[in-house]
Order: sequence, then structure tokens, then C-alpha cells
Amino acid sequence: MVRGKLALSLLFLSLGLKAQQLPLPEAGADVHEGVASCSTSVCHGKSSPEPGSTVWLNEYRIWLRQDYHSRAYRTLQTDQSRAIARKLGLPSAAGAKICLDCHADNVASEARGRRFQISDGVGCEACHGGAGRWLESHAEQGTNHADNLAKGMYPTEEPLARARLCLSCHLGTRDKFATHRIMGAGHPRLSFELETFTVNQPAHYEVDSDYRERKPAIASVNMWLAGLSVTAMAQLELLQESWFTDPGLIPELSFYQCHACHHPMDDLRWQREGADQALPPGAVRLNDGSLVVLIAVIKTGKLGEAGALDNALRSLHTASLESREAVVAKARSLHDLLAPMAEKLSGSNYDSTTMERLRGGLLQRAAAGQFRHFTAAEQVFLGVETLGLALGDAGTYEKAMDAWFESVRDENRFVPKQFAVLAGQVEKAL
Ligand code: HEC
Ligand code: HEC
Ligand code: HEC
Ligand code: HEC
Repeated sequence: MVRGKLALSLLFLSLGLKAQQLPLPEAGADVHEGVASCSTSVCHGKSSPEPGSTVWLNEYRIWLRQDYHSRAYRTLQTDQSRAIARKLGLPSAAGAKICLDCHADNVASEARGRRFQISDGVGCEACHGGAGRWLESHAEQGTNHADNLAKGMYPTEEPLARARLCLSCHLGTRDKFATHRIMGAGHPRLSFELETFTVNQPAHYEVDSDYRERKPAIASVNMWLAGLSVTAMAQLELLQESWFTDPGLIPELSFYQCHACHHPMDDLRWQREGADQALPPGAVRLNDGSLVVLIAVIKTGKLGEAGALDNALRSLHTASLESREAVVAKARSLHDLLAPMAEKLSGSNYDSTTMERLRGGLLQRAAAGQFRHFTAAEQVFLGVETLGLALGDAGTYEKAMDAWFESVRDENRFVPKQFAVLAGQVEKAL
């Protein structure tokens, strides 16, 4: 699991954008002009930040030298990718649509401009949207951010929209998905937490005073909650797609807790617990990591009506013992409950008292053994880390956090009891 070092951000703002309905960069109608059309030395290809400019203008350098997205295509040419392709019966990974859809800006050929190159990997326009209509105008005097958005630039600054964007590759969509077949061939498990991944992507921008004049600056806590909500919603949406509903004998296994199956048999983990009561020993549990943590956050902070969510989650688990149709129906109703909450949670103001209560509450629940499944444990750890950095006192209990991190660092060595004990030690060290 990756871990982030978070930067402070203090402004709290809410936005009314309908992030749910925006087309993703890959699905928009605009032409993708290619990284070469952004990277010249008079544009975003300077060697260091340009003094006096609103944006740094060395974004290309940072992306090329430090950002994993610039090597996403090259990854498809490694031995690991070759082995995956071979096991899947693909002639090559770098030529396969199922790999390129996430490892490059794989838009249709009619949406590729003159300087577009698939080998650029996850380039600027894979996140910022096809530049066909704004490439010329966005650098002109007097153009503002709203003009750019109106011409198809994607609102990467908006938390719900950003979460959708990142998750389109870091989880999947109705059109592309990292199936258990791909995992079985050797692809790493996909895990995602918006704030941590935002911080781990080498920044090619700075949220400074002129940024705040142009765009809203989003606090890390809001980014975290937007990510938890949208991840949960995106998973529930995918459960309603053919990835899950196709009637093979065994359902698509990457919707489940990987470690429900992939853990040693002498490590007996099942126990009766809260919302889980629905699941008997030996059941394969749907991956509800983000949801379980989101519900715990809502309860701890009294941020909304959690009882209905608890019931809906329990019904989803019960449905997973019955039929695909039942799962689809319950996924839909749980999703309906979450959609309005996502807007509220990502747009609210969180003062330090609330953040302290959230951190204390999550730790208390973790110490009581409430997050026994790896994906939930991973999310709780990252949430507590984000809260500590936002509160500014993370240094005072760093040692206990480092010890706790060791218990989630390697998913193959995760021991739920140890995770709980170490959470208790963080709680004491606060
Ligand atoms: C078009 C698909 C795509 C989109 C959109 C995307 N990513 Fe990625 N991302 C990838 C791929 C593929 C990799 C792995 C690259 C490699 O190592 O070859 C990756 C890697 C990363 C990594 C490094 C992971 C690690 O293990 O250290 C971070 C951090 C990251 N992405 C953050 C983000 C964030 C934040 C967003 C949204 C703003 C985002 N990504 C959007 C495809 C995407
Ligand atoms: C749904 C999107 C998606 C699909 C489909 C996908 N990948 Fe990935 N892949 C990712 C992301 C995201 C990462 C980075 C994971 C992380 O570090 O969190 C990644 C990581 C990898 C890595 C590990 C890179 C490293 O440096 O650790 C390899 C290898 C890889 N992918 C190969 C492939 C191949 C080959 C295919 C096609 C069979 C493929 N991927 C299909 C999204 C995808
Ligand atoms: C994985 C997604 C991703 C990729 C790839 C990416 N960006 Fe960004 N970019 C972001 C995010 C997230 C932000 C911060 C939010 C915002 O201000 O929109 C951002 C911000 C920016 C900004 C705005 C800075 C400001 O002060 O307003 C510029 C300019 C920019 N990126 C240029 C580029 C260029 C040029 C490339 C390609 C070389 C690129 N980006 C590649 C996600 C990405
Ligand atoms: C319902 C049980 C189940 C779930 C859930 C499950 N797997 Fe698997 N997995 C299997 C089985 C069965 C195999 C085939 C084992 C074999 O070939 O020996 C397998 C194979 C694999 C392999 C290849 C192992 C090998 O020896 O070649 C990997 C890697 C893998 N799974 C990863 C995952 C990931 C990642 C997830 C979660 C996203 C996941 N699995 C979820 C049952 C499961």
C-alpha cells in the first residue's frame, strides 16, 4: 500500500457543479491534440517555474520526469506486462485495447489530433480533457477558467469530478475494468484514496493566492470525503454493469474482498459482527472497504443519517447470497442514498473539533476491531493520516503511526488483530 505525505490546505469551499454528469476526458467529443502540443518551451515545457506567471509552465517537465503517468505506456513494454499479456493470450500488452484504455489516452482515432501519440501514456489531456476547442484560447489574455471549462476543459479542481476522473482508471468504468482474469495474470490489485493519491502525484501546480482567485482551493478533509463517497458510489454503479451481471457460473471476483479468498487457512478470521451479521462463515464478501469507512465517519462525526446506510449495506450483503438481480437492486438503492450525501460531505466545513472527533472515533473503532477486512483497514489508516496532517499535530504521534502503518503495508501479511492493537496504541499516543 502507498502512503502519502500531505500538504496543508486551509480554505473550505463548496461547489454546485454536477460532477456526476460530466463526460470524462476519454468520453468527451473534443479532439486530443497530444502532449507535444502542450510541451514546447513557450508553453508548459519550461525547465523551472516561470516567475510572475499564474501557472508554473514547467508542468511537462514534472510530468515527464517525476509523474508515473508519463511512464504508464512504457509499463506495458516491461517483462511484467509481457508476462500478463502472454497469460491472457494477447499478442502484446502495448497493442491491447484492454491495457491501453487505462495506461494511455486511448481515445478513438477520429479524436486524435496531428501531434497525438499513444506512447505518451496518461498525458495532459487524459486528465484535463481534449484541448481541441481550448488549446488556442486558453493562454490568451483575458481568458478565464470558466471560458476554458465551457470549451471542454475538465474541472480537475472540483473534488467529485476529480474523484470520478482518477477512479475511471484507478477502479474502472462500464467500458474498462481490471478483472480478476487480469489480476490472476499478475496485475497488481487496484486500491485508491483520493487525497493520498492527489498528494502522491508529483504536484505540477501550487494552490497559492492567484490560484485561489481563479479556482476553489479544497481542504484535504473534503477531498478525502469526496473520494470515499465517489469510490463507494462508483463500485455500486459497476455492480449494475455487465462486469457483474453477466451470468457466468462464478461472478466477477474483483468485486469481492481479495483477501476473503487469498489468505492462509490457518488464520481463522470469521466472526459475527455489526452490519455483517448477514454473512455466514465461508461467505465471499463484496469489497465494501470505502463504504464501511464512510459510514463510520458519518456516525462518528454525526454528519448525516447513518442508520439507513447501515441497513442498506446489510441488505446488499444479504443479496450477495441470493442472486445477481438482488445485488443490482440493493446496489441501486444504496447508491441513491449516497448521491446526495456525497455533495454534502465534500462541500461542508470541518473545524478542528470535528476533525479531532473523526480521528478519535475512527481510531476507537479500529482498536475495537471494527475494520477487520484489509480494504477497510487500508482506508481507515489513510483517513486517520489525512486528519492528522490537516490538524497539524501528526508529528506528535508519528512513531505510533509508523508502527500502525507496518500492519497494512503488505496486504499478504495483514493480521486484523494486530491492526486493532496498533490502532489502540495510536489512540493512546494522541
Ligand atoms: C487514464 C487513466 C488514469 C487516470 C485518469 C489517472 N490515472 Fe493515476 N495512474 C494510472 C496508471 C496506469 C498508473 C500506473 C502507471 C505506471 O506505473 O506505469 C497510475 C499511477 C498513479 C500514481 C502512482 C501510484 C503508485 O503506486 O505510486 C498516482 C499517485 C496516481 N496515479 C494518481 C492519480 C490521480 C490523483 C488521478 C486523478 C487526478 C489519476 N491518477 C488519474 C492511470 C490513470
Ligand atoms: C482499469 C484500469 C486498468 C486496466 C484495464 C489495466 N491497468 Fe495496469 N494499472 C492500472 C493502474 C491504476 C495501475 C497503478 C496501480 C497503483 O500503483 O495503484 C496499474 C499498474 C500496472 C502495472 C504495475 C506497474 C508498476 O510499476 O508497478 C502493470 C505491469 C500493469 N498495470 C500492466 C497492465 C496490463 C498489461 C494491462 C492489460 C492486460 C493492464 N495493466 C490493464 C490500471 C489498469
Ligand atoms: C493524472 C491527471 C493529470 C495529468 C496527467 C496532468 N494533470 Fe495537470 N492537473 C491535474 C490536477 C488534479 C490539477 C490540480 C487541480 C486543478 O487546478 O485543476 C492539475 C493542474 C494543472 C494546471 C493548473 C495550475 C493552476 O494554477 O491553475 C496546469 C496548468 C496543468 N495541470 C497542466 C498540465 C500539463 C501541461 C500536463 C501534461 C504535461 C498535465 N497537467 C497533466 C491533473 C493532471
Ligand atoms: C472467491 C475467491 C477469490 C476472490 C474474492 C479473489 N480471488 Fe484471486 N484467485 C482465486 C482463485 C480460485 C484463483 C486461482 C488460483 C490458482 O490458479 O491456483 C485466483 C488467482 C489469483 C491470482 C493468481 C495466483 C496464481 O497463483 O497464479 C492473483 C494474483 C489473484 N487471484 C489476485 C486477486 C485479487 C487482486 C483479488 C481482489 C481484487 C482477488 N484475487 C479476489 C480466488 C479469488
